[in-house]
Amino acid sequence: MANQVQRSELDTNCMTLSRFILMEQKKHPHATGELSQLLAGIQTAIKCIANAVRKAGIAALYGMAGDVNVQGEEVKKLDVLSNDLFINMLRSSYTTCLLVSEENKTVIEVEKDHQGKYVVCFDPLDGSSNIDCLVSIGSIFAIYRKNTDNEPSVDDALQPGRSLVAAGYALYGSATMMVLSTGNGVNGFMLDPSIGEFVLTDPNMRVKDKGKIYSLNEGYANLWDPAVAEYVQGKKAKKAGARYIGSMVADVHRTLKYGGIFMYPATADAPKGKLRLLYECNPMAFVMEQAGGKAINGKIPILDIKPTEIHQRVPIFLGSAGDVTEIEELYKKHNL
Ligand code: AHM
Ligand code: MG
Repeated sequence: MANQVQRSELDTNCMTLSRFILMEQKKHPHATGELSQLLAGIQTAIKCIANAVRKAGIAALYGMAGDVNVQGEEVKKLDVLSNDLFINMLRSSYTTCLLVSEENKTVIEVEKDHQGKYVVCFDPLDGSSNIDCLVSIGSIFAIYRKNTDNEPSVDDALQPGRSLVAAGYALYGSATMMVLSTGNGVNGFMLDPSIGEFVLTDPNMRVKDKGKIYSLNEGYANLWDPAVAEYVQGKKAKKAGARYIGSMVADVHRTLKYGGIFMYPATADAPKGKLRLLYECNPMAFVMEQAGGKAINGKIPILDIKPTEIHQRVPIFLGSAGDVTEIEELYKKHNL
């Protein structure tokens, strides 16, 4: 009958992200549920950002923050709106004490009566140069446990990526996807707009040991060090595929799905590269390692770097272990 929903069209037992998180929590009998609560807050922020991204044009969310719309209200640019959402949802989850955002110069201390034990570093909307031309953008987050009994301070955010409790990202692409690791593999959830829920579509994601794609901004070729120059030359000689979106989340997600390598190396102009350790490189390195891949700064794993300041930049090479090892060897060969 035409108006009857076919059984196969509706999964009556679907694995939503919330259900998945609860299931993971139950594996740890002493868990308090605080992390689940925190992840629920992030999930809400991401759903709201996804919604804003999809209706940006008609809701006049493009353009500069500070513009005034027809009602005389200040228009929030998408990145300002995303930052506000992350901060508000994390504060009101009662699970965090300190936040680091790409958009804020200094750390944000959560008010005492809202504090919990977690520290969250995030880039609320990465790839901002791609917003106005509708190319994929994303959000990235990294979650640490506060490791001292002192008042929350910047030191709590300067933990190496090895201490991460959980990390992940959301990709606002042709669909909205959330990829999460709590240190027990990587799982991908697609947003089903008809029910407003993230549903498990990519369980136990693994990156190939070797890929056929390399990804970096070749506009800076004259500024590369000899290791990167030799590596890219080798890729061209093998007729490898080149892909570069210029949105880290999209470039990393493709690398995770198809294999290969994503690079943002140091250049003569930017000796530390461009991407930020706390809320771009560490969470992506955590996800990649959890999926069986590798992430290094040329010499050592990204996750072993001890941060010295919250907006620190590091060069990054990440993806299939075989590909990343090749560039690591070249750094050794060139004594860099
Ligand atoms: P943003 O945080 O200002 O958006 O910059 C980060 C973005 C990444 O998403 C992307 O990998 C990189 O900048 C691209 O930089 P470039 O234009 O130099 O290739
Ligand atoms: Mg960014």
